[in-house]
Amino acid sequence: MTKQILVTGGCGFIGSNFIRYILEKYSAYKIINLDELTYAGNLANLKGVDHLPNYQFIKGDIGDKELVERLFKEYKIDVVVHFAAESHVDRSILGPEAFIKTNILGTFNLLEMARKLWLENLLENPPLFLHISTDEVYGTLGIGDPPFTEKDAYAPNSPYAATKAASDYLVRAYHQTYGLPTIITNCSNNYGPYQFPEKLIPLVIYRAYKGKTIPVYGEGCNIRDWLYVKDHCCALDLVLHRGRPGENYNIGAENEWRNIDIVYLICDLLDKKYPSKVHGIESFRELITFVKDRPGHDFRYAMDATKIKTELGWKPEYTFEKGIEETIDWYLNHMDWVENIISGDYQKFFERYYGMTL
Ligand code: NAD
Ligand code: TYD
Repeated sequence: MTKQILVTGGCGFIGSNFIRYILEKYSAYKIINLDELTYAGNLANLKGVDHLPNYQFIKGDIGDKELVERLFKEYKIDVVVHFAAESHVDRSILGPEAFIKTNILGTFNLLEMARKLWLENLLENPPLFLHISTDEVYGTLGIGDPPFTEKDAYAPNSPYAATKAASDYLVRAYHQTYGLPTIITNCSNNYGPYQFPEKLIPLVIYRAYKGKTIPVYGEGCNIRDWLYVKDHCCALDLVLHRGRPGENYNIGAENEWRNIDIVYLICDLLDKKYPSKVHGIESFRELITFVKDRPGHDFRYAMDATKIKTELGWKPEYTFEKGIEETIDWYLNHMDWVENIISGDYQKFFERYYGMTL
């Protein structure tokens, strides 16, 4: 069976890993990758697969009505996998408007176009709309609280989380009201190759490698549940093929770490792989600097992934030890990729947010 899949945000971190995964596994599927190439999107993330006949890149905004309508019609889209978003909490604190525009209005435009074309009989079937969301919509947990389940109420705390929650609600409403077959996945923190180095794990690797200070917010005690990106892609593959429309699936690895412990782990692994002495220090841990905390910083996220495990048979394949080691090696071998994407825009953000130079 062939599928015509519109992937949005396929030049970002998870989207590019997902496209690689699908192209490798399903040669009969066609991927149309719609990406605006914001600071976070990078064509180099698809190097090596971008020449394939069943892959097509389209540069554009998910909020562009005419473009989205044309793509649905021209490629007879039967599945949308929607990654495109503004995704960094700290940026949402400095400037929420872009998050409203892409995460809420952009998602609305995709949903509305799918509904309209289906109702006008311009598409054979209603497209399946797989919406990629986050654990952050559920708010924050205390130590000892049970992990979030799909039944928990949303309580977003950052502008990023609020816009993702709003988009989740729209996706749900398009299923309940119009019968569009939609599925929402809410995943915990991802790590792995091609993640923009504004996020904790690649930021630590890059700054340590360069011998620069490693900023840890507050006392570094906040907790995140980390999942290797390839395990996320595998979960999305299962949801795409066997998930039930109208449902939400939580995805997480039961792999909770305090930020400071992750930072120590990366420093210690780097000490074994790359001599810190080139920077005149004995260990990369010496670079750790505690900085002012993120406003509204969620203390802990943890996901209960029982539903996707029991219903779809998913489980993560990567241990954290294996995933983090592969990730560090990937970054050490792709420092040119990192240097290339740290554009003027990222430098400006970094200086504004952290009050120090990149
Ligand atoms: P990312 O920031 O790395 O990539 C986002 C991509 O979307 C970029 O390629 C960017 O160019 C593109 N984009 C942004 N605005 C656009 C627009 N208006 N039109 C078209 N393209 C646009 O993000 P990511 O980390 O890969 O996250 C992907 C999705 O997964 C997001 O929806 C995010 O909320 C969700 N998610 C991420 C994580 C995580 O840990 N990274 C965890 C759970 C859920
Ligand atoms: P991040 O990777 O931005 O993901 P999220 O906020 O979506 O969970 O941050 C992960 C954790 O690391 C979060 O608790 C904030 C913290 N953090 C730092 O301590 N220092 C940093 O420079 C960054 C970017 C994050």
